[in-house]
Amino acid sequence: MGSRMTDVKAGDLKAGDLKAVVTEHLAHARERTLRILDPLDDVDLTRQVSPLMSPLVWDLAHIGHFEELWLLRELAAAAPTDPRFDDLYDAFRHPRRERAELPILGPDAARAFVADVRARVLDRLERVDFDGDDPLLTDAFVYGMVIQHEHQHDETLLATINLMEADLTEGGAYPLPPAAQASAEEGEVQIPGGDFVMGTDTEPWAYDNERPSWRVAIAPFCIDRGPVTNARYADFVADGGYDDQRLWTDTGWGWRTEAALAHPQGWASTGDGAWSLTRFGHTDDLPADAPVEHVCWYEADAFARWDGKRLPTEAEWESAATLDAVAGIGNVWEWTASDFGPYPGFRAFPYPEYSEVFFGDEYKVLRGGSWATDPVAVRTTFRNWDYPIRRQIFSGFRCARDDR
Ligand code: AVJ
Ligand code: FE
Repeated sequence: MGSRMTDVKAGDLKAGDLKAVVTEHLAHARERTLRILDPLDDVDLTRQVSPLMSPLVWDLAHIGHFEELWLLRELAAAAPTDPRFDDLYDAFRHPRRERAELPILGPDAARAFVADVRARVLDRLERVDFDGDDPLLTDAFVYGMVIQHEHQHDETLLATINLMEADLTEGGAYPLPPAAQASAEEGEVQIPGGDFVMGTDTEPWAYDNERPSWRVAIAPFCIDRGPVTNARYADFVADGGYDDQRLWTDTGWGWRTEAALAHPQGWASTGDGAWSLTRFGHTDDLPADAPVEHVCWYEADAFARWDGKRLPTEAEWESAATLDAVAGIGNVWEWTASDFGPYPGFRAFPYPEYSEVFFGDEYKVLRGGSWATDPVAVRTTFRNWDYPIRRQIFSGFRCARDDR
């Protein structure tokens, strides 16, 4: 894992290099955003694809609004482009399913808005002083935050587009993005356990929820070398895993029956126990050795019990990843057993709505990143989270068990 920027430890960069790094990452994120949206017409950019997702054009302008908020208004006391945007593009004020009904910017206006913000940001960047004592500017943190934010929304855009399936209004499928790759590793690895230092104090662009580092005692455990594959998951389905209530938590069982879940999102039976997989409107045979994708936490948890195992805690996951003991990381987000909570000594920085307001037992942590995650927006300490019922994200898992 790692990336050009985050392989560089705090303090290693001179201010001049830092500006070049920031400029390059900003440009790369924007190229990616525009490339993802480019094949889509205005109808697809503005419609409500799913109640779970925003219209694509909302994400686009929200990316620009977030950038203006932090890199122009916060850093340079600039005036807002439009005071109404603080309401329209605040993720907490309007649920995703209602955003298409709001007076949001259309595709052309949204593209013009993000371009205008970016031009002013680049102009301002030339005069920014990274050597002062503003914690937002130390190691260009706030720029790193805005860059990661854009990439996180790019992944959300891809999840939304994937839900369009073959449904693109102008006909013709969306260009098939890269897929999660099979990992050659099989079996499990034993991790001795002991004290593990989790999280980070030194990764310059780590989010507040990854800090501070802390010492956690881990009991000896075994963890799968690779993520659970489609073939293994199909065995679970064929063995009646979805119909065996003993494998499911009460909540998971209730949700499974309510949602009539019988296989991962995108699978369709082709008879004789075989399956096809549809991604981004393209249907193919289910790739047996690729990691299973688009399962919710309950499905991951039920599979693990069926396999005589359990999901790893995030401490276990991070210690195995830190030791380089496991393979296949970075193909699918991996569900862990853990609720999303603060590390001891947590301080919200720079705003509580990134992490703090989500702490509690409603959300489960995912680790590692997916094929849709840019390397700058993931690292060994990175924590993602979602509701345990969600599976439109690029989510899979690996199993673990106690070693005793
Ligand atoms: C960390 C992926 C759960 O998309 O809700 C985007 C990231 N935060 N804008 C989300 C995020 C603010 C967040 N996740
Ligand atoms: Fe956001």
